[in-house]
Amino acid sequence: MASNYLVTGAAGFIGSHSVEWLLGQGHAVIGIDNLRTGHLENLANARSSPNFEWVLADAGDEAAMRALFAQYHFSGVLHLAALVSVPESFRDPGLNCHLNLVIAERIARLCLEFDCKRLVFASSAAVYGSAATLPNRESAAPQPQSPYAAAKLAAEVMLLGYAASFGLEAICLRYFNVYGPRQDPKSPYSGVLSIFTDRFQRGLPVTVYGDGGQTRDFISVRDVARANGQALLGHPVVSGRYNVCTGLGVSLNDVLSIYREIFATAPPAEYSEARVGDIRHSLGDPSLLNNMLKFQANLSFSQGLHELALGSGGVK
Ligand code: UD1
Repeated sequence: MASNYLVTGAAGFIGSHSVEWLLGQGHAVIGIDNLRTGHLENLANARSSPNFEWVLADAGDEAAMRALFAQYHFSGVLHLAALVSVPESFRDPGLNCHLNLVIAERIARLCLEFDCKRLVFASSAAVYGSAATLPNRESAAPQPQSPYAAAKLAAEVMLLGYAASFGLEAICLRYFNVYGPRQDPKSPYSGVLSIFTDRFQRGLPVTVYGDGGQTRDFISVRDVARANGQALLGHPVVSGRYNVCTGLGVSLNDVLSIYREIFATAPPAEYSEARVGDIRHSLGDPSLLNNMLKFQANLSFSQGLHELALGSGGVK
């Protein structure tokens, strides 16, 4: 029997790219999403594949999930469905706890019940907090500073506890700053590169909060999709937490100089007060995932930004 893989949050930014990567490797994928923050248009490419099954469902709907597990006998689950906004987790911590912790735990139990060995979970570099020493290594004591980060960390703990107790293969991936096509630029707290690209494309000035010297470990969604896929398919794996990052820090001023090559006539950036609570530098150590899966981000930042800004990195 062919292997089936479940992707929750399939219509999201990272989900839709991950589905495409798995389909590209010839796997059968069942993608579910409740379209709370995902968009069906993101799955336009995927839905043209005979190996893709689209299901409009909520990952928290236990009856619907149970039926899918019973029908498809998944070989692995990539669990990306989540409350993705840190500000929203402050406004509604109860919902955050439900979507980011409770549902992840339920999915882990469904995996155990239906003998699905592998669960790959979307965690976040946010679990490190701002006080950690750089680069962030998985061995560092996490210091979550938002309800979002706390729930992601708690879910990691539950899944790894089940891994130790029941033999589930739980791979918790801590994404750093992911960018690329299909990232929603609409909120002021959207990823900075989605906001900047949208504004440059419309000929509008961008706002830099602070002096532009802050750095991030930006990783392309195409590399992240491949990390997800390799974590789902790779052998052998060791349950644990793994950074998904490049190991390279890029400042916002560096980012702006690349945009200037692409949008030569763009108005100059406007600088304003740094955001309260903004982290100055964020950088991950990629070696653990590299050691386990030989995973390495291979799209250079400049190339990734050109693809994003010029619209050649995939369907928007
Ligand atoms: C990310 C999260 C954020 C979370 C933080 C801590 C995203 C999109 N953001 O923030 O919710 O609290 O990790 O874990 O996942 N910036 C500008 N101009 C803009 C937008 C942003 O200068 O129009 C700056 C920000 O102030 C920041 C940098 O760009 O210094 C990156 O911002 P962002 O993309 O939001 O990522 P993080 O700050 O890493």
